[in-house]
Amino acid sequence: ADTPSPAPENLPLPPGRTGLPLLGETLDFLRSSRDFAERRRRQYGPVFRSHVLGAPAAFLLGPDALQWIFAGEGKYLKNRWTSGVRQLLGANSLALLEGEEHLERRRLLAPHFSYATMRGFVPAIESLATRHFERWAALPGDFTLWPAMRELAFEIALSLIFGQDRVDVPFLMRHFQAWTAGLFVPLAVNLPWTTFGRALAAKKAMITYLDELVAERQKRTEQPPDLLGSLLRHREGEEPLSREAIVEELQLLLFAGHDTTVTATCNLMLQLAQHPDVLQKGREAVAGMEGPLTLDGLRAMPYLVQLIHEGMRLIPPIGGAFRVTTRDVVYNGYRIPKGWMVPVTIRMAHSSEHWPAWERFDPERFSSESNEQRKPGTFVPFGGGPRICLGQHFAMVEMSVMLALLLKHYTWELVPGQDLSYILVPFARPRSGIQLRLRRRD
Ligand code: HEM
Repeated sequence: ADTPSPAPENLPLPPGRTGLPLLGETLDFLRSSRDFAERRRRQYGPVFRSHVLGAPAAFLLGPDALQWIFAGEGKYLKNRWTSGVRQLLGANSLALLEGEEHLERRRLLAPHFSYATMRGFVPAIESLATRHFERWAALPGDFTLWPAMRELAFEIALSLIFGQDRVDVPFLMRHFQAWTAGLFVPLAVNLPWTTFGRALAAKKAMITYLDELVAERQKRTEQPPDLLGSLLRHREGEEPLSREAIVEELQLLLFAGHDTTVTATCNLMLQLAQHPDVLQKGREAVAGMEGPLTLDGLRAMPYLVQLIHEGMRLIPPIGGAFRVTTRDVVYNGYRIPKGWMVPVTIRMAHSSEHWPAWERFDPERFSSESNEQRKPGTFVPFGGGPRICLGQHFAMVEMSVMLALLLKHYTWELVPGQDLSYILVPFARPRSGIQLRLRRRD
């Protein structure tokens, strides 16, 4: 679709409207991006313009459009973060690097995130998850799943990075939460009493602490088999990463690899509690599981992946992202000027006409036959193209381990009368945080 037309400047802009001065249609968009896009799709078709979050925007809907957006990274599109996020994430971290620098950093990090590398992390994930689940099961009454899962996922992310090192988990967790709270404020005002100001202070404390941990490690001659060791180990023909870059990368990984898996796992546990037939099938899938979990053992239970995929289809942990055009481009006969925003509409894709009765939780959608027939661009929980999620294998292995243990050893019930209506931003979750009672079943 990106073939330069003879005179692109004569092509029309996509149909649509730009709303109020300055605000544009932002408020409507923030209320529910899915309803927002769906209403305009009906009125204007799958390509329309708007004005959201301070910039003119071109919405391009449908699987082919998504593929076009993913393929455009570094060519006619680059990713775009709000100014708050730019200040809170390190400018030197993967998420903010662009073009050739981004590709180079990806090449450096990719081997640490390959599926095969995950083999070594399974025992640590199993032992941490078991410790937390046992604690939940021993509670006399019910508890709120969301914050409990956040603690567990944070510890797992730390163990991926620091392995056996002694890390002050409560200290990091406290600063980390203040820092992430700042990532999603609508207006980034740096004053001591604002959420954003506190987030910047927390970032400083966290960076100082992480820097000490990395410096301590650099003194060792042998690096252990964890992520930090692997980042510090020098490889033939490669510039070593600076300590500053490593610290910023660690901070990014703690962020990207944490609330995402929490969202997916908590929402899936909720769906399973509400769908006893599916839960039963899940239990049958893990019935033969014995001894410590391994990557091969997990692979032998493909229904786990079906459950996780359907959970993320129904409620994608990251509902969307943004790109911005780096030059004038043409899409399907429309001109999209340089500097326009182009949303990556993941939630829209997962609820499109390619998913009949999309609101129904049904893991059979991901049976092997259905997988073969699926159109590319209709299931994209991890994004696509050069910016596809770096941690997707880690996330899948982590969630599979948790799910296998939960299905095999525990039962859980929802506390009646809780408010299960959803908040969508920053991560889709029920207002109650999911109140549960969890018990051992064997
Ligand atoms: C990027 C989803 C877990 C690290 C992304 C993107 C998505 C995504 C959609 C692309 C954003 C964009 O296009 O701008 C998810 C989901 C997860 C998950 C659904 C879990 C269920 C993880 C984990 C890690 C991780 C566990 C690391 C340990 C990253 C990084 C990027 C990224 C570093 C940026 C990649 C780049 O800019 O090149 N993730 N993620 N993610 N993810 Fe994940």
